[in-house]
Amino acid sequence: MRVTVTINGSAETVDDVWEGESLLYMLRERMGLPGSKNACEQGECGSCTVYLDGIPACACLVAAGQVEGREVRTVEGLAEGPSGEERLDPVQEAFVETGAVQCGFCTPGLIVQAHDLIERNATPSDAEIREALAGNLCRCTGYEKILDAVRLAARRKAARP
Ligand code: FES
Ligand code: FES
Repeated sequence: MRVTVTINGSAETVDDVWEGESLLYMLRERMGLPGSKNACEQGECGSCTVYLDGIPACACLVAAGQVEGREVRTVEGLAEGPSGEERLDPVQEAFVETGAVQCGFCTPGLIVQAHDLIERNATPSDAEIREALAGNLCRCTGYEKILDAVRLAARRKAARP
């Protein structure tokens, strides 16, 4: 089947999508967007989190055919600039600076989820951060560095004019 979808602000047409194909597969294998990670493919880990019409969703649980006419934003699309590489989003910067990235498999999903949290709540408490990220699993960091990253990103975003 053919799917037309907006991905990171660009209108895209994707051909030969098969019936059981996931949005995650389409992004990674057809669109050259490997940021969203495939860790469990069961909606359990959050590594594949993307925005779908502005709401975080597990791309592994969304059929590619379901995104027809909709808008997807991936971790690559959070950076500002024409190529998406000009300037990292403060959440992306904060993850790098605080050491919240180890193997990095969980990182794209955590960044999208944290980005959404800060958009909704500019000054989240630690409890609110933990609740927002409860569906995103990390095997490496022990989560403290991730909390540091979200706190730092929230402070920086709040300080922006
Ligand atoms: S790969 Fe989608 S939730 Fe784990
Ligand atoms: S950094 Fe390795 S799973 Fe989180």
